[in-house]
Amino acid sequence: MSDFGIIGIGRIGTSMARNMSSKGIIVSLYDKSHNSLDNLKNDYPELDSSLVFDDINKFISSISKPRKVLILVPSGPALDEVISLLIQHLDFNDILIDGGNTNPNVSFENHQTIKSKNLLYLGMGVSGGVKGVLEGPSIMIGGDTNAFDQVKNIFSQITSKTINGSKSFEFFGDSNQGHFVKMIHNGIEYVEMQLISSIYYLMINSKKYMYEDVAKIFKKWNDIDLNSYLLEISLLKLTEKTDNGYLLDRIDDKADDNGTGRWMLKHAIDLGCSVSMLNSAIDSRFISGNNITRSKANKMIKDDKKEYDIDFESLANAYRFCRLINYFQAFLLIDSANKSYGWNISISNALNVWSNGSIIKSKLINKLLSDYSVDDILDDKNIFNNLNELKPGLIDILNTSLINDISLPCFNEALNYFNQISSSSLSTKLIQAQRNYFGSHEIKIN
Ligand code: 6PG
Repeated sequence: MSDFGIIGIGRIGTSMARNMSSKGIIVSLYDKSHNSLDNLKNDYPELDSSLVFDDINKFISSISKPRKVLILVPSGPALDEVISLLIQHLDFNDILIDGGNTNPNVSFENHQTIKSKNLLYLGMGVSGGVKGVLEGPSIMIGGDTNAFDQVKNIFSQITSKTINGSKSFEFFGDSNQGHFVKMIHNGIEYVEMQLISSIYYLMINSKKYMYEDVAKIFKKWNDIDLNSYLLEISLLKLTEKTDNGYLLDRIDDKADDNGTGRWMLKHAIDLGCSVSMLNSAIDSRFISGNNITRSKANKMIKDDKKEYDIDFESLANAYRFCRLINYFQAFLLIDSANKSYGWNISISNALNVWSNGSIIKSKLINKLLSDYSVDDILDDKNIFNNLNELKPGLIDILNTSLINDISLPCFNEALNYFNQISSSSLSTKLIQAQRNYFGSHEIKIN
């Protein structure tokens, strides 16, 4: 009999199975497609002791009770199909774990359905990609505490050490908080990716720097406080070559998404919170894919970019500023969700679990934990002082970008947001008055 079942043996499922097997955990693996299973044991000898099935009945019977079954399939129809299959086959108190990127709203509904069948549920976000999941992912969990107690020993064997010395998994609450925290992680990831990409774009368009030069700057930054996994992989991709030259010369600029950023934006809208950094990062992906609009506009507007200089100290400070604002907005969204939904997600625990194994691991996360009161960020003078000190760098870079027709998604939004929150009076005063005029909305007099 096996200790644990995994459904969905794609790239992430295979990494998870290999990670568990290498720790001596016997896993049963199920995938309805033969292709995923055929060469598994030949390709990965560490899976020798695992049990491989394309028959769901045999798969279920092979797992010792109470069964623990991890689903790693895309959310949507594939996930729905697997959950209804498991509901038919699992027994009282067996544990069903959804380890995919699932919308927290869907995770909540799934929990209710699964509970009504007397099964236990965990909604679990897994970060790290193919390599991270193999070597020690970052795992964010929500759902039945009783289920968590039964699997934590397994998670402690397959995860990495975090900055505070714990293992990189955390239980955030008894409902859909695991998927919520993963969704926030992904929103932060989108902005971090966009900021790096905006910097690359600013440098290349100045006509003074080549990919190798951008990579050199990133490498320099990676040795100081600006270090992050995403910066590191960006510098590798900048210098990657194909048979016909640089990879970046061979690929187009259309960036897709799998939906997690959109969910976070929708949650923020529902809660009335600004996540303008994320909004800008998602917009730039949307614009990148809008070929018709772009080709029409390209033809109408002459694109004759001139050479310009970049002050690298300003650029580094602008980048620092924007990254802080990204986390600041994410913290306030978590805080708002805690208050509105009666949750108790600890921001410091979230940062801790992201500090190793996750895609957003960085020195900034470590610094946020050591230098700031992340759970009460609005009372932290330090962050406001730091932002104020970094602000001139951002203004300098924005000046360069505006004069030279360079769009820098997420940079403008960071300054706009900071200026708005730190201003004692806003333009919305007149909006109050306008609404009062045409809608007879009550006007609030101070
Ligand atoms: C992770 C990532 C991962 C996510 C990809 C793709 O933490 O390992 O967040 O879960 O699916 O980054 O996201 P997009 O396709 O939306 O960019």
